[in-house]
Amino acid sequence: MARILTGIQATGIPHLGNLLGAIRPAISQANDPDNESFLFIADMHSLTQIKDANTLRDNTYAVAAAWLAFGLDARRSVFYRQSDVPQAAELAWYLNCFFPVSRLELAHSFKDKTANLKDGAASVNTGLFTYPMLMSADILLYDAEFVPVGKDQMQHLEFTRDVAKRLHNAMQTEVFVLPEAVTQESVMLVPGLDGEKMSKSRDNTLNIFDDPKALKKRINKEIETDATALEDPKDPDSNPVTRLYALVAGDAAAAHMADQLRAGGYGWGHAKKALLEAVVDGFSTERDEYNRWMADRGALDAELHAGAQRAAEVAHGVLNRVRVALGYGAL
Ligand code: ADP
Ligand code: TRP
Repeated sequence: MARILTGIQATGIPHLGNLLGAIRPAISQANDPDNESFLFIADMHSLTQIKDANTLRDNTYAVAAAWLAFGLDARRSVFYRQSDVPQAAELAWYLNCFFPVSRLELAHSFKDKTANLKDGAASVNTGLFTYPMLMSADILLYDAEFVPVGKDQMQHLEFTRDVAKRLHNAMQTEVFVLPEAVTQESVMLVPGLDGEKMSKSRDNTLNIFDDPKALKKRINKEIETDATALEDPKDPDSNPVTRLYALVAGDAAAAHMADQLRAGGYGWGHAKKALLEAVVDGFSTERDEYNRWMADRGALDAELHAGAQRAAEVAHGVLNRVRVALGYGAL
């Protein structure tokens, strides 16, 4: 049985791209009985960027509700909120003391994030700089063997292995399991309403948890279609409607829609209506579940706390190994 660990960024309500490209595949992996999965919402990392308590809290709930609504079996995997197991912050401190500043300065993510800040160095907080050490702690604290990550996180995994080895060398004892990165290319690329990659930053997302009225407005307003007359043939690939329809209703239904568009007598209004219905009906169970969870934050907290308790048991043992190796007492 392999122990897999993934940290989930909580950046708001997951959109169709996140759900189909990342969340659904991760859930099927987590629900696989051959794996032991640790999944947590990285809300302590969020503090490097978000300085609003309600946003921080609400983002976590929205992400947790989305994972549960899409079928994550919280009994089979250890599903928790990073801030509910603060032992990671303790371990991050220890790791900080073994990792050279000069290496952290080479982090791509740090360079990218700080390059975009308007007032430069003045707004770069130290948390942003030491982010990779907290991430290393997230991983090492649970003896994780495999960590599925996107390409942008590969360097952080190298840092994790590096800092673990540095501590081993310095203390002449092996306390950590060295994790392996598992590269995860998004198997699919979900187009946004403007035809580019769906992304929060482009404001081209489809939020499938929205109510049907809001979905209708968004699809009608944001997908630009040409003004070809109803009876004329249309190019099915001139906008993202058929591609989105394929992802939601299946390839066969989308091929039929494309044929109708090419034949003429079938308008973009019809196609958008079909897409809307597919989104509303196709995700009705997930939408209901999502709303049920969001209306009962006590229940969400209970799920996350139960996960945190199981995570803390593992964390406790690993942290004691480290504490003893460093010359502190086991707690
Ligand atoms: P966003 O671009 O909206 O900020 P993130 O970069 O936070 O999304 O991505 C979170 C996860 O969702 C990543 O694993 C990413 O690969 C996946 N993802 C995001 N957008 C898409 C998309 N349009 N198609 C497929 N997967 C996506
Ligand atoms: N840094 C990761 C990201 O931006 C999130 C994360 C935090 C993470 N801790 C982790 C991912 C531990 C994997 C393992 O996506």
